[in-house]
Amino acid sequence: VDKVKVAILGATGFTGEKLVEILLKHSKAQAVYLASRILESAPYAQIFTHFSGKTNLNCEPLDIEKAAQISDILFLSLPHTVSMEFAPYLLKKGKKVIDLSADYRLKDTVVYEKYYKVSHKDKVNLKKAVYGMPEIYKKEVKKARLIANPGCYPTSIILALYPLLKQGFIEGKIIADSKSAITGAGRNAITKYPYTDISDNLWVYKAFKHQHVPEVESILKSASNKAVKLLFVPQVIEAKAGIYSTIYVSFKNKVTEEKIRNTYEKYYKNCPFVRLKEDFPKLKETAGTNFCDIGFALTEDGKAAVIASSIDNLIKGAAGCAVQNMNIMCGFEETLGLL
Ligand SMILES: NC(=O)c1ccc[n+]([C@@H]2O[C@H](COP(=O)([O-])OP(=O)(O)OC[C@H]3O[C@@H](n4cnc5c(N)ncnc54)[C@H](OP(=O)(O)O)[C@@H]3O)[C@@H](O)[C@H]2O)c1
Repeated sequence: VDKVKVAILGATGFTGEKLVEILLKHSKAQAVYLASRILESAPYAQIFTHFSGKTNLNCEPLDIEKAAQISDILFLSLPHTVSMEFAPYLLKKGKKVIDLSADYRLKDTVVYEKYYKVSHKDKVNLKKAVYGMPEIYKKEVKKARLIANPGCYPTSIILALYPLLKQGFIEGKIIADSKSAITGAGRNAITKYPYTDISDNLWVYKAFKHQHVPEVESILKSASNKAVKLLFVPQVIEAKAGIYSTIYVSFKNKVTEEKIRNTYEKYYKNCPFVRLKEDFPKLKETAGTNFCDIGFALTEDGKAAVIASSIDNLIKGAAGCAVQNMNIMCGFEETLGLL
């Protein structure tokens, strides 16, 4: 059987490297082109020696025409603003594009410009982009040509809340306290932090004004049909991989544990990568996997809850979800290469 040919643009970044790792083991996809900003081609396994013996591919200076010529699907593991420079050309060439950056996630360009501090350059394709969260938009993903792969924090928060908002249980502000591994910032950004700053450390940053706030609020609004207010406090922890969101909600009416459990189970019954836990999830149990684990506890009066969700930021929060989207777009089994 012919394998679908894939390119990874931004293959030297954290998410690009994770994509290579997943795709090398995929039975129906073949990585044919790896590129980044490097100046000269070099064997990928020489740049990342843990790939030695696994691939003979070179990593090349990005040539968008070559990328389009030899591949069917392209993963853009690129910084925001860079993705929207390349996506229009690839789409014009009839390629399928899965963008891991934020460039196609926010439909409102005014909001994009406010949070990302640049004007949006590709409003035409933005309209057609599908938010690639398979648990919610599987039907749309199947037909999409351009996927806006969700952000890592949004994945952990949206999956924890969507079914409850859809049922209209939640009222009032939602507080999300989210802890992310340092790799969430990208390889280039973390070179700024010396080891001594990261080890044994934890800190809050961008409280209430992180760029993922409008992404989460817009998707959750579509669940509840009314505005959702998120108080989001992101934090960095010393970990290689993982996001752990602890979320506080109030309910309109008293609920029972059984009602909440049933709501999650019903909504996620055909979702192979969401696991509802008996207890709270643990960061280490999702590290290295494409799972999102969710657990919750109600207050004694049944009027409020704490919900916790755990993912691997580079897998379910990025590369794994991107491959899940590719699987759905290509008509493959959703879990292929991911279990
Ligand atoms: N890290 C996460 O947990 C995570 C999760 C979800 C989504 N994302 C998003 O996914 C995207 C990639 O994230 P990352 O963490 O993998 O970032 P990263 O580690 O900083 O990697 C970025 C990659 O893009 C390449 N690149 C940058 N500018 C380029 C240009 N002008 N032309 C060609 N290549 C260019 C870099 O190449 P060089 O190395 O040669 O500079 C590198 O390969 C970002 O938009 C990020 O927001 C990240």
